[in-house]
Amino acid sequence: MSRNAYIVGTGHKVPDGVLTNADLEKIVDTTDEWITTRTGIKERRKTDDDTATSDLVAVAVEKAMKDAGWKPEDVQGIIVGTVTPDYCFPSTAALVADRLGLGTVPAYDFEAGCTAFIYGLVQAKAFIESGMMDRIIVVGADCLTKITNWNDRTSCILFGDGAGAVAVSSEGPGGRLGGWHWGSDGSLGKHLIQPGGGARRPASHETVDLIEHTIHMDGSRIFKHAVRAMRDSCMKALEKDGTEKKDVDLLISHQANLRIIDATARALELKPEQVYINIQKYGNTSAASIPMALDEAMRDGTISTPNTVVLAAFGAGLTWGGMILHWDE
Ligand code: UT7
Repeated sequence: MSRNAYIVGTGHKVPDGVLTNADLEKIVDTTDEWITTRTGIKERRKTDDDTATSDLVAVAVEKAMKDAGWKPEDVQGIIVGTVTPDYCFPSTAALVADRLGLGTVPAYDFEAGCTAFIYGLVQAKAFIESGMMDRIIVVGADCLTKITNWNDRTSCILFGDGAGAVAVSSEGPGGRLGGWHWGSDGSLGKHLIQPGGGARRPASHETVDLIEHTIHMDGSRIFKHAVRAMRDSCMKALEKDGTEKKDVDLLISHQANLRIIDATARALELKPEQVYINIQKYGNTSAASIPMALDEAMRDGTISTPNTVVLAAFGAGLTWGGMILHWDE
């Protein structure tokens, strides 16, 4: 009998600190009206100086494990998608595995920008369906406010911090991981990049003076690509799944910009109530946005049984991806 992978628990964590559009008006030349109409964002969460990505991840994972009814010894692996790990190494996943007493399970970080959570689900699906694992934690987490240029009004208004985690099991009931699509195009990578601090431009006084350790983004170019990539990824994932647009109940898209989410919803011919939106509260939390929204949608009853949910994302790399989840009867 073929094996399936199911999401059996979800959890998320955001920091307490709230940064509103009015706060940003005091930092850069912008307005609440511009940010609201161009992005849909009203406020975002920001970590304090003492809090890093692993602190949010640990809480999100604990919640997902509790939701799944898992004890530490049940977990066979943990993978964390992030571009803002606590350190270049050791990995955030290994730090969290230690903190939560998960023992010596495999633990690693990977990066696919804002698409990382979908990349993580594809990995978990492969591990579980192949029989390599029965229970794995997948996390999407980022603290982009740590690498934000607060003088750049075209990007600093977008980002917030957060972490989302899911427990994925070979045993349901739960959200079955269905058809998927993932891709990348490195030729466009330069349009969304943290140029300094890596092996190409190691950290130096010069890289700091040039603010190269922050996000450098060509917003409108990314916008156009995102609309196309998310639409195509959804369609390819649906095709692989054998599901038609009319059978989709809910879209949970990467929360980057309300206008991008709307364009994806239009391509899927969805009604407004079939689109999960929380960007107004959190901004763009990068890899965390989909698992955070998924957790909220589970807990507030938006996702019920039976339900077919489409996930869609794009991000740095550039990368993109889509996956269909089924809560079967
Ligand atoms: O998760 C992946 C990460 N990246 C993204 O998701 C980014 C995707 N891109 C976007 O969301 C949008 O492109 C932005 C929100 C970044 C920008 O919106 P836009 O509609 O593409 O605006 P634009 O860049 O074309 O700029 C329009 C105008 C410009 O002024 P001029 O040249 O027309 O006079 C900008 O200087 O808006 C100006 N502008 C602002 N004005 C007030 C840019 N940022 C701001 C701001 N406040 N914060």
